[in-house]
Parts: sequence; structure tokens; C-alpha cells
Amino acid sequence: MTAHTDQAIATPPRAPSPEHGFGTLAVHAGSPHDPTTGAVIEPISLSTTFAQTAVGKPVGEFEYSRSSNPNRNNFEAMVAALEHAKYALAFSSGSAATTVILQSLAAGSHVISVSDVYGGTHRYFTQVAKAHGVRVTFTPEIEVDIRDHITESTKLVWIESPSNPTLRLVDIRAVATQAHEHGVMVVVDNTFLSPYIQNPLDHGADIVVHSVTKYINGHSDVVMGVAAFNSDALYKRLAFLQNALGAVPSAFDAWLAHRGAKTLHLRARAATANATAVARALEASPHVIAVNYPGLDSHPHRHIAKKQHRDAMGGGMLSFRIRGGHAAAERFCQRTRIFTLAESLGGVESLCEVPSSMTHAGIPRDQREAVGVFDDLVRLSCGVEDAEDLKKDVLQALECAVAEVEAEEAAAAAAAAKDGNGVDGTNGTNGVNGH
Ligand SMILES: Cc1ncc(COP(=O)(O)O)c(C=O)c1O
Repeated sequence: MTAHTDQAIATPPRAPSPEHGFGTLAVHAGSPHDPTTGAVIEPISLSTTFAQTAVGKPVGEFEYSRSSNPNRNNFEAMVAALEHAKYALAFSSGSAATTVILQSLAAGSHVISVSDVYGGTHRYFTQVAKAHGVRVTFTPEIEVDIRDHITESTKLVWIESPSNPTLRLVDIRAVATQAHEHGVMVVVDNTFLSPYIQNPLDHGADIVVHSVTKYINGHSDVVMGVAAFNSDALYKRLAFLQNALGAVPSAFDAWLAHRGAKTLHLRARAATANATAVARALEASPHVIAVNYPGLDSHPHRHIAKKQHRDAMGGGMLSFRIRGGHAAAERFCQRTRIFTLAESLGGVESLCEVPSSMTHAGIPRDQREAVGVFDDLVRLSCGVEDAEDLKKDVLQALECAVAEVEAEEAAAAAAAAKDGNGVDGTNGTNGVNGH
């Protein structure tokens, strides 16, 4: 070993500090060089248990991997830095992060949630939280009527901004100010934007949660969740539950997600540029009824994006209503060549889906339509491919879908007319009217 190498290994890891920019933090926070080998990328620590020199005296800071392990700790340190938080706790999925936060409430607690939350969060609130005595009220206009819903037992407000799949924005500061006047805590699900575009704690939220499965990991190969916050009391309670409930990620997943997050700023910028190009192309198409994208000036909450998002960015997610109803929405998703028909979002590859029959199928029709989730809504997750290719792909899929559905409807009408003719011996008018 040369003197030069010795010195390199002995050099203490360079710790990024809060004044560093996002990219520097993403690459370096929670990423110490390996103290033994100098490896610049941390090894994956698969051991489930750690040796002790005497009872209760572990060799290092770890004892048992569910309670803590090096890869999870490093991932948590990185997310805390990116979300401007003192603490972050990682979970086995975004849903597990939601579960742990809801489990931290005492029986009899009341929660106020925005109406258009992720389908799985809605399912947890309506079908699981009830079982341990937590009641949830949904409101479509939380900034306007939060005070009307707050009761003595209200403990938490749950916001998703942007919401899934309609991309409505909530003014986090306005909600947090009102909630805090009544001692109510505010949670923001920041999955759709990632910490690069929005930092909810800076706008008054108490906890920010992510489905790490999406942008933070960014490569569609890990299911994981995380919650970040500043309160010491919250850390005590949630870290206890993280260990007690055991819904923790594996060391391997924590390592993969940490690696993915090192390029989050690059991916989030590319996805925003692509979504902006696609949203503009859709807005100009005669086959589109409406486009929901917070990066467009036509978005009703654009003013919130301007004050809450980095550089007023719109993120990589958008949704739109296609002419031709549900059939056209489904056909569109089958006709794209680059966008893959699949659930999930936030990966490097572009995805499309029909929320009314996929991610949001579990929400009763009247409730989902009240918040804009119509049968003809298509949701797109723009990846980091080339903008021109994505634009061309959606435009050709629109042409195909609308033309095919129109042709099928014309054929069905002609067949019905013919049937009507055969059945009642008239000129077929009855059959067409019946259709
Ligand atoms: C906004 C949002 N929050 C939470 C979740 C749940 O995350 P996970 O699938 O990692 O449990 C999802 C999943 O799609 C989501 O889109």
C-alpha cells in the first residue's frame, strides 16, 4: 500500500452541509467513504445481526437489522438532507409509511384529508383506520373549509399536492397555518414532485411522506417509503413504531434507492421538460378535452406552483381527458409505443394508465367523478426519454385511439340499424334510436 493510498483512506469522509445545493446533497449526504477500504460507494450490509463484545455492548452502533442497519441509516440521512428535515425514517413501502403515521394516533382521533388522495391511501383511511378507531373526513377544498371540519379530536390533516391523478395543488402554508391554530399536525404526501421540486416542511408541514417507489428511487425496481420531519417527539414515537411494526425495507432496497436518489435532480428536471412538452402538445390537440398539468399557465392552481415548486416546475406527471370516453382512454394506452401501459410512476421510463379502471377503480364512481377522475381520464408519467419522441408518441396514439373508437361506434350503429331492420321489418330507424 502506498503512502498516498494510506492518506486517502485516512481522510475523514466529506460531509455535505445544508448550504450545499440539492445535487451536492443528493450525491454526498449519507454517503461516507467506507472507513476500512475507502470505497466511495457504500457496501451493502446484508447481515441481519451485529456482534457484541459483552451483553448489550455491540461492536458498532448496530444490533439487529430491523431496528437499524448501515444502508437504511445512510438512506435516511440523505432523505433528511433533501427534505430539509432533522429526521427521516424509511419503511417497506409508501403505504407502510402511511400506516405507521396513522398508527401513531390514539383511538378516537379524527383526520381531515383532501378528497383526491392516492387510491391506496383512500383505502387505508376508509377501510383500515376505522378498525383502530380513527375517523377520516374528506374534503375537496381543504384551504377553504378546513376550519368547518376541525373538532376536539382532530389530530392530523393529510394533503397530497399535487393530487393523484388530477394534479390539483394545495396551498400547504394556508392549510398549515389554520391547522396549527388548533394544534393539528399536517402531513404532505410529496410523492408526485419529489424533494427536488417541493419541500413541504419549508411551507409549514410537520411531516412529509414519499412512496420512494416513485421518483426518489426512480428506476421502477424498489418498493419503499419514507417519512421526514423535525420534531424530536415525533422521532421518538415513529422510530418506536418503525421497529415495533417492523415494516422496514431491506438493506439491499435501501442501497438501491440511495443510488437512485443520487440522480434525482437530473431526472426530475428531464421529466419536467418532457411533461411540459407533452402537456403543450396535448393541449393543442382537437382530441383532448382538458389537460391537468401544474406547469401550464392554464392550470387553475398555477399560482401555487409558482410559490411552492422549485422554479415553478410542473413535475413529470400529468393527466388529460380524451374525446371518445373510456374506450378511447383504454385504446390510447394500448396504442402508445414508448409509454408503457402500467401502474406506478416516477421511473426513468414513461408510463400511461387509465385511473378509473386501474389505480382508482376502488373509489366509488360518484366520489371519483366529483374530483375529476372521469372514465376518459388518462394519466401519464413522463420519464427521461427524448421530448420529441414522447410528443410524437402521444400524438400518434391519440389519432389511432380516436379514429378506432369512432370506426367501432359507426360499425356498431350500422349493425344495430341492420338488426332493427331484420327484427321489426321497418327501415332500421328503431334500431339506431335504441342504440
Ligand atoms: C401519491 C402516492 N402515495 C403513496 C403511494 C403508496 O406507495 P407504495 O406503492 O410504495 O406503497 C402511492 C403509490 O402509488 C402514491 O402514488
